[in-house]
Amino acid sequence: ISIEKFIAGIPKAELHLHIEGTFEPELMFTIARRNNLKINYSNVDALKKAYRFNNLQEFLDIYYAGASVLIHEQDFYDLTWAYITKVNEQNVKHVEIFFDPQTHTNRGISFDVVINGIQRALIDGQRKLGISFRLIMCFLRHLDESSAFKTLEQALPYKKWISGVGLDSSEVGNPPSKFQKVFEKAIEEGFLTVAHAGEEGPSSYIWEAIDLLKVIRVDHGNRCLDDDILVKKLANLQIPLTLCPLSNLELKVVPDLKEHPLVKMMERNLLVTINSDDPAYFGGYMNENYLAVAQALHLSKKQIVQLAKNSFEASWLSKPEKQKIM
Ligand code: HPA
Ligand code: ZN
Repeated sequence: ISIEKFIAGIPKAELHLHIEGTFEPELMFTIARRNNLKINYSNVDALKKAYRFNNLQEFLDIYYAGASVLIHEQDFYDLTWAYITKVNEQNVKHVEIFFDPQTHTNRGISFDVVINGIQRALIDGQRKLGISFRLIMCFLRHLDESSAFKTLEQALPYKKWISGVGLDSSEVGNPPSKFQKVFEKAIEEGFLTVAHAGEEGPSSYIWEAIDLLKVIRVDHGNRCLDDDILVKKLANLQIPLTLCPLSNLELKVVPDLKEHPLVKMMERNLLVTINSDDPAYFGGYMNENYLAVAQALHLSKKQIVQLAKNSFEASWLSKPEKQKIM
């Protein structure tokens, strides 16, 4: 059995996925056309050619521009449904996905429109395809604290749909400490917390995410290996890291997948998982991410199975739900 088929056959969970990052160029043009909006590129090929990034910010600029053609609830439904059908083909059984409300509310789209479209598609995925899900609301860290507080207020009526809050966008210069009060309030309201940390930012941002934001999972976390005490803490507490190999390659977080820290992390007993981050922009969904690291790092089948097991272990499924799938 080929390594491709082996990976494709294993049940997996995806824990680090921005729904706006699943916006495929073809669907983007379709939705732009029906909303009478223009895209800055003449066709799908021209748009795809622009997907070459030297760092996180160059990606974010294009990612926010792409999301700006999403207007109606049906647009958010179509976006989410396209992702769900894609992962269904890849034997992904459970997804915990991020959405960025401020990307939309800041251009006049109401919070309700965004969440209703996403939630309806997730429910359909559960009913029709048996894919379970959690929804995580991210604050954009390049915006200020008061904007995050306002967004948290808007989320309160939808508490039963939103399992946790996270932190994404431009990392360097926007440390977790900037959002300590917002996260305190979110925890009081019953949300779980995660944060992107140590992607481009230093390991001290991972400490802040754990100590100040009380995160129970770290998104990326690549830079933890710079700090031996931090690695021991993450390993002892089995705080999961949601790694995104193709994202790291495309955003030049690693120069080559052969230098990806995944195996070093596994050797140090860290609970690491493989995820796609923004698959429409980085050239691969879950199976492509697994395959790319398996080949670059010569992973054994045992290691691949361990990574898939980790994805359920690190998920927010209940114990009985986990036992049913694993
Ligand atoms: N990092 C920070 N913000 C993001 C990312 C990421 O990898 N993807 C989408 N928003
Ligand atoms: Zn991310």
